[in-house]
Amino acid sequence: MNTFSPRAIKDHLGTQIIGREIHVFAELDSTNSEAYRMAREGRREGEVVVADRQLRGRGRLGRRWLSPPGTNLYVSIILRPPILVKDAPLITLMAAVATAKATKVISGLQPQIKWPNDLLINNKKVAGLLNELRGKAGKVEFVILGIGINVNMTLEMIPGAMRSSATSLREELGYDISRVEFLSALLRELEGEYHAFLMGEPGRLLRQWEEFSQMVGRLVEMRSFKEVIRGRVKRIDSNGSLVLFAPDGSEKRVIAGDISQSREFPDMRPKVEEKER
Ligand code: BTN
Repeated sequence: MNTFSPRAIKDHLGTQIIGREIHVFAELDSTNSEAYRMAREGRREGEVVVADRQLRGRGRLGRRWLSPPGTNLYVSIILRPPILVKDAPLITLMAAVATAKATKVISGLQPQIKWPNDLLINNKKVAGLLNELRGKAGKVEFVILGIGINVNMTLEMIPGAMRSSATSLREELGYDISRVEFLSALLRELEGEYHAFLMGEPGRLLRQWEEFSQMVGRLVEMRSFKEVIRGRVKRIDSNGSLVLFAPDGSEKRVIAGDISQSREFPDMRPKVEEKER
């Protein structure tokens, strides 16, 4: 855990809110659970929980997040945005954009955001976000941004069944990345995006998200609450829903789900006009 000195992280930082206190643990069940507990007890916005290892790292949809020691980043950040619960998905987009930007700055690689909040490099998952929220009377009391980044994990550390779909920065670059530098970059990017968000600039956020996601115009198949929805991605709307053109021409909004495929559907290919040649 020697590389995780809070002093070393703060030395790199220069932020006002995000990272104002960094709580570092050798081991936790889950940084999200710890940050949630701290937030409930009144810890301030911008406080960060980092662990070298998680014993029960949590992923979306009840999945586990692989969290071996000494190699990756497991980070949770407490935010207290003055927004309504219905607008909270924008916070998820913001965190995904900040994670993508930090990944690009540190590695020089071009990550892709897969809706809603996976980060891919060369079509393999390198990071995931699990954001949890407590609200009161329709307003957000706090949000926990939970971010897991496969930094230096080697292919051998990834279970066989996941090897074709998961990667790490190290696997993509061929050399190790400093976790402290990555964490600093991440907290700095979050600070910038969060300021912009609080200034009420959702347009900038949505544009950046669309740039990183490169999903607009693509054909996707999604699972959302046991329903399978197919369609061409039109845009992301200002409350974070994915807007699709369905094959029947209708417009569908998806708030949550998993993109299970992204390919051409025969019935949706543009018709080639047989005109005079
Ligand atoms: C996913 O892709 O399913 C989301 C994974 C989120 C993992 C991170 S690691 C830090 C934080 N603590 C957790 O228990 N989960 C998130």
